[in-house]
Amino acid sequence: MSDERVEAGVAAQPRAFVRPSRDDDVPAMLAIYRHHIAHGVGDLGDYTPDHLDAEDLKRRRKNMRARRLPHLVAERGGEVVGYAYAVPFRKRPAYRYAVKHSIYVRHDALHEGVGRMLLNALIDACAVADYRQMIGYIDGANAASLRLHEACGFRQVGRLPSIAYKFGRWADSVIVQRSLGLGDSAPPGQWPSSLAEGQG
Ligand SMILES: CC(C)(COP(=O)(O)OP(=O)(O)OC[C@H]1O[C@@H](n2cnc3c(N)ncnc32)[C@H](O)[C@@H]1OP(=O)(O)O)[C@@H](O)C(=O)NCCC(=O)NCCS
Repeated sequence: MSDERVEAGVAAQPRAFVRPSRDDDVPAMLAIYRHHIAHGVGDLGDYTPDHLDAEDLKRRRKNMRARRLPHLVAERGGEVVGYAYAVPFRKRPAYRYAVKHSIYVRHDALHEGVGRMLLNALIDACAVADYRQMIGYIDGANAASLRLHEACGFRQVGRLPSIAYKFGRWADSVIVQRSLGLGDSAPPGQWPSSLAEGQG
């Protein structure tokens, strides 16, 4: 995503907008992440009892930028109130048009439309970069995330029962997917010929 800002209004609040993340957003993003992980509602894909540190997050942002993968924050009143990013679905070349993503909204800004604004901006940014499919893994008990993804055009394509153990319970993972841009109705744009056949 360029410098373009996506705006959304929240009643009786300063306006929120989405922009690419910066290194100086890392402490706020880490605080959001740690809160949710500590409360057991984060997505299973990112679940790590020991933490991600600031250097990990900065490295991750740089790697993603190099691959034209969006790493976005929602800002409101000068504060980061959420973030979302996409990573390659799998490393092998055949999967290079598919991404998976994560999204986190600050605990005191939930249910105010920030998640929907961020996820829609992430979808748009991935589509512009010519990714064609977007996949999410959601804890089966995470009603907010299931609803958010449904509202943003994802459909449930699978369920991995009891695939994780966290906070004293077995957790299912629901796989959600949506197509981006032209989806599978047309071949992708440029694909280096060395990768075109027989890989992945
Ligand atoms: C999932 C999450 C990103 C949603 O963000 P949010 O800003 O609260 O969502 P929004 O306010 O934009 O709401 C989006 C939709 O989800 C619904 N929703 C939000 N919270 C909900 C809840 N607790 N239960 C059921 N539906 C909920 C909203 O009603 C809205 O649907 P609608 O437009 O049909 O009314 C947020 O709850 C979060 O950060 N959770 C912790 C981290 C996490 O679980 N991340 C996702 C991992 S897959």
